[in-house]
Amino acid sequence: MTPHLKDQLGRPLRDLRLSVTDRCNFRCTYCMPRDVFDREFEFLDSGELLSFEEITRIVGIMTSLGVRKVRITGGEPLLRRELEKLVAMLFALPGVEDLTLTTNASLLARKAGLLKEAGLSRVTVSLDSLDDEVFRRMNDTGFPVARVLTGIEAAIDAGFDPIKVNVVVRRGLNDHGIVDMARRFRGTCVIPRFIEYMDVGSTNGWRLDDVVPAGAILSRIDAEFPLEPIESRYHGEVARRYRYRDGAGEIGVIASVTRPFCGTCTRLRISSDGRLFTCLFGSRSEDLRERVRSGGGDEDIARFIAGMWGRREDRYSELRSGETQSGSRVEMSQIGG
Ligand code: GTP
Ligand code: 5AD
Ligand code: SF4
Ligand code: SF4
Repeated sequence: MTPHLKDQLGRPLRDLRLSVTDRCNFRCTYCMPRDVFDREFEFLDSGELLSFEEITRIVGIMTSLGVRKVRITGGEPLLRRELEKLVAMLFALPGVEDLTLTTNASLLARKAGLLKEAGLSRVTVSLDSLDDEVFRRMNDTGFPVARVLTGIEAAIDAGFDPIKVNVVVRRGLNDHGIVDMARRFRGTCVIPRFIEYMDVGSTNGWRLDDVVPAGAILSRIDAEFPLEPIESRYHGEVARRYRYRDGAGEIGVIASVTRPFCGTCTRLRISSDGRLFTCLFGSRSEDLRERVRSGGGDEDIARFIAGMWGRREDRYSELRSGETQSGSRVEMSQIGG
């Protein structure tokens, strides 16, 4: 099909973020607050999720439109049974050059070896604090830090290198632990990335006051361990990279609130129920699952996706106005960040 597909702002389609389940065994207060995601909450039935075969077909079609990188997300993606089978199926697609996973690591000790064997290129682990009490409070399920660290160790043993650790920073909750987090992983193959807390979805009660700007995060670390900026690994990388001047490794900051990166955003997203979103903050989506299940051919589906990308003009983080903040938006747990 059309290899030079561009959206309204001239951005090509390169990355796919693929949510494989809307469920999670954590209840992080900023993502799946307990009072909303409670016993009564209706998660998707298995028949509503895209099957591995459907996903593989869709990703194959997307590679013909320019997708080269696929990130598997959730909810918690390792709750999807035999996820390693999907990894193997996607790894076998010729166009997929980078196949990655973002996980809370609760099941990683069991799965890391199988995922590596299946062809997964990289793993990113979410871990907001090394302080056990703070971490338990943030995941709101009493899950201990030690088990996440065991998962990270298992991933290292399986041969993943480097491993990124995502730290969502919230003022007054875990920001006092920023320097500890940096210190813990200095001199290892783990790269901590400090993320400005974002206003995703409509259930987390986000306030600008909760955000610690990336500039402040960097100065706190730099005061203890001097830093210098380094080049991005690839065009459109969301994290800005810094290395320790003494050679003990690197960290990253993701400043989606104070320094948005919409201008280089080449990401398309599929929710767990097979809807296509052209922005993390999208309130509009297109039903791809319906297209696939109603018997559309590959060409037809490719045209549908290309049409949506061609109309795309999202740049939510750059605008972040009163107007864009209203309206019902997709939840983080349905779209995987
Ligand atoms: P690599 O660079 O491939 O390692 O991954 P990544 O940083 O793109 O993915 P990851 O899942 O680790 O996401 C890191 C953080 O960036 C999460 O908080 C995501 O929600 C956020 N993020 C990723 N893509 C976007 C985006 O397009 N827009 C915004 N606003 N945030 C994003
Ligand atoms: N703001 C920033 N990052 C978030 N994540 C989840 N919710 C938010 C939010 N409101 C992170 C998770 C995970 C990644 C995919 O997104 O911690 O690491
Ligand atoms: Fe689960 Fe990740 Fe959301 Fe926490 S941030 S509730 S681990 S999906
Ligand atoms: Fe891309 Fe939307 Fe994030 Fe901007 S806010 S970087 S357009 S997903």
